[in-house]
Formats: sequence, C-alpha cells, structure tokens
Amino acid sequence: MSALAHAVFLRAAARVADLPPPGPPEVALAGRSNVGKSSAINALAGRRSLARTSKTPGRTQTINFYDLGDAGRLVDLPGYGYARVPQSMRAQWRELVNGYLHAPRPLAGVVVLMDARHPMTPLDLQLIGWLGEQRLAVLLAKADKLSRGEQQQVLGDVRRTLGREDVTLFSSVTRQGVEECRDLLEAWLQAGRENKKPPVKGI
Ligand code: GTP
Ligand code: MG
Repeated sequence: MSALAHAVFLRAAARVADLPPPGPPEVALAGRSNVGKSSAINALAGRRSLARTSKTPGRTQTINFYDLGDAGRLVDLPGYGYARVPQSMRAQWRELVNGYLHAPRPLAGVVVLMDARHPMTPLDLQLIGWLGEQRLAVLLAKADKLSRGEQQQVLGDVRRTLGREDVTLFSSVTRQGVEECRDLLEAWLQAGRENKKPPVKGI
C-alpha cells in the first residue's frame, strides 16, 4: 500500500516559529488559492477529508503538515494570488512560505499546481522561478473542466513555455494523473531518505 494512504494530520503552522522540527523528507504542494491543493492531498492519500477543502479561496492560511510515518511528510502550503486578501496577509503569506522554503528542512520536492484553464499566471511563473533548482513537478489541476482536445492543447503550451516535460494533467475529481503523481512523490521521498537532495534556491 502507498505510504501516502497512511497520512495523518501532524500540525498547522501559522508562523515560521510553529514549523515542526525537521524530520523525514517533505514534499510540498504550492499554487494559487482555490487551485485544488488540499483536494490533491486528499486524492493522493485516497481519503475524502484529510485536508480541509473549500469553495472559498484562501481557506488554507497555515502550512499544514501530514505525517506519512518514516516515509516522509506532505506539506500543504497556503495559496497565493487571491485578490481580496488584504496586503498585510499577503506579506504574512510571503514571510511564512519564504521562511519554510529557506528553513534547513529536508525538502524532497515541490508540486506546483496551476489551474488547467488559466495556467502560468505571473505569480505561478514567479513561484517556479523561485524554486529554481528544486525538484519540481507541475500539475495542471481541475483538468476535468476541459475537453480532451483542450487538455492536450494546454499541456503542449505549458510544456513549451516552461521548457520542461514534467507537466501532468491532474484532476482530484476524475483522478486523472493521481497515480502518476503518487509514484513520483514516493520516488522523491525515497531519494530524500537516501539523502540525494538537490540544493534549494531561495526566494
Ligand atoms: P486554498 O486552501 O484556498 O489555497 O485552496 P486549495 O488550493 O487548497 O483548494 P481546495 O482543494 O480547497 O479546492 C478549492 C475548490 O476547488 C473546492 O470547491 C474543490 O471542490 C474544487 N476542486 C478541487 N480540485 C478539483 C478538481 O480536480 N476538479 C474540480 N472540478 N474541482 C476541484
Ligand atoms: Mg487548501
């Protein structure tokens, strides 16, 4: 059985000081508010309500850690780019996410979710730029909202524009891409356990 199926909630960190002490390797999910990060965690873990999801953008404002035992941890980062979030909260987001990515933690990889219908917003591109050398995968989330033809079109566009092949169509509703993503995350965590971590480029 997949290590991800054993996920249990570990901690919600609202401030850098609240981050749990580093432990086994971590895989973080990042992306715009409402893109489906928490839903992806549930789909990957094969559970309905492990991570709290919401129709209201900006639901996850803390960094939420899920424990996979010795295998590692899944980390649900708070979303960015929600226009109605006040300036002070954006600064808080930046400090928290930046603090997490800069902390001396065993980060095995980052999954960036972009909305398949509106991918590559300036903030998405900025995040991918920040992550630099980090082991990275891009999910085109909510792919179920597109026809097959549209899916192939956007997949090709994003791969070409980003100049990377590790872009996958993903849907927590139809489970498209879920198994591939789970296999990738497990491979990252295993590499992390074997200490083959590439350096993190800071924000
Ligand atoms: P924040 O915590 O606000 O950053 O949002 P999030 O990225 O965690 O999004 P969340 O998983 O809470 O999902 C937001 C909304 O999108 C919810 O209404 C979900 O039901 C819906 N949603 C998530 N994934 C999918 C998907 O693959 N397909 C469709 N159609 N809807 C989805
Ligand atoms: Mg969320």
